[in-house]
Amino acid sequence: MPRKSRLIFNVASRVLGAEYARDISKSIDVIGDIAILKIPNRAEPLSRELGEELLREAPYLRVVLRQSSPVTGDFRIRNLEWLAGERRTVTYHREYGCIFKVDVAKVYFSPRLGNERRRVADMVGEGEVVLNMFAGVGGFSILIAKRLRNVKVYSVDLNPEAVQLMLINTILNKVSGKVISILGDSKTIAYNLFQGCFDRILMPLPEKAREYLTPALHALKPGGGVIHYQSFVHADKGEDPVKGALKELRESLGCVDFKIEGGRVVREVGPFRYQVALDVRVSRTETL
Ligand SMILES: C[S@@+](CC[C@H](N)C(=O)[O-])C[C@H]1O[C@@H](n2cnc3c(N)ncnc32)[C@H](O)[C@@H]1O
Repeated sequence: MPRKSRLIFNVASRVLGAEYARDISKSIDVIGDIAILKIPNRAEPLSRELGEELLREAPYLRVVLRQSSPVTGDFRIRNLEWLAGERRTVTYHREYGCIFKVDVAKVYFSPRLGNERRRVADMVGEGEVVLNMFAGVGGFSILIAKRLRNVKVYSVDLNPEAVQLMLINTILNKVSGKVISILGDSKTIAYNLFQGCFDRILMPLPEKAREYLTPALHALKPGGGVIHYQSFVHADKGEDPVKGALKELRESLGCVDFKIEGGRVVREVGPFRYQVALDVRVSRTETL
């Protein structure tokens, strides 16, 4: 168990009992100096005490919140209740040499996707023009721009709060000329503004990636390019979630010529349910 999870496990065991500790330590999100906990209703009466105790034990935390709804809606936001510490939802999160200003109540941001952001950023080459269709506060886009001298990342999000934070983050990370923040629906934008423009397209919204695949294909350069596709896949015991995502992608792409360059389970999101990422090289898009 990583050090931070162990600390949370120990504190939760002490306050709530071992029955809840494992689930709480597995589901906690630490974004900057804010901890977000999922606490079962039965343990709710002790949740403030747990928050206070966590603040005492973990000096890097200043705020403890409880997640009181699943992540929902177009903006992928969750309801949060204050438990302990300072009464704020804005923080600064550091990741792979970048700093992100995040308002955890108003935008989606998951520290669990840090490795995926890094993996994708490592694949981008000098001179590429990239579209991030679901950019949030700029996690993928800014990391890419930070690592390359000559790159342009067009970063679209539907949530005005996310786009505003993305703009701030491009300034904080000194990548203003390389990340272009755009407010709007990425389907409309891909069709109307960017036909045939991109070497690479990121689709980090598993709920919608399938629906947005055709606009993504329109936005790729006529000679083709790479799409980083994500999906939620159900896989029973012994089944490979990556194969499930591949089957779904084959059905969606129909006669488009493509090859898979990489695929991985990003994380488990529920019982037998997985977030899968596929790196898809599409050969030609002229006929679409
Ligand atoms: C899972 S989050 C992306 C997280 C981000 N890539 C990161 O690494 O932090 C998905 C984002 O897609 C945005 N979104 C949802 N529907 C959209 C659409 N039709 N067009 C553009 N953005 C959309 C949401 O507002 C949300 O910020």
